[in-house]
Amino acid sequence: MILGFVVKPAMLVFGGTFLLLLMLLQVLQGMRKIKLKGPLHLKVHKWGAWALLAAAVFHGFLGWVYAFHLEIG
Ligand code: HEM
Repeated sequence: MILGFVVKPAMLVFGGTFLLLLMLLQVLQGMRKIKLKGPLHLKVHKWGAWALLAAAVFHGFLGWVYAFHLEIG
């Protein structure tokens, strides 16, 4: 529980699926199956990587809260 907010398994399933989708897009862009024009390509790839990292850390945090019944706040 975080500030009265209860983490439910469905949220973790949703988050994990979202991460997989984001990772698929990142890999496809990295492999240039998805191409963007000019410097925008690396810019989006770079921000995609940060977005992935942020989402993964958040997802992992929620997973810990759920698995270990942590109470924060
Ligand atoms: C989850 C998958 C991936 C993540 C998190 C990721 C992340 C990154 C990051 C952080 C950079 C540095 C951006 C910068 O210079 O500011 C980068 C650059 C790059 N990545 Fe990826 N990447 C992924 C997959 C791939 C794949 C599958 C390929 C190609 C097969 C690829 C090809 C490249 C290339 C060509 C660069 C540019 C290097 C440069 O020109 O400086 N990436 N990637």
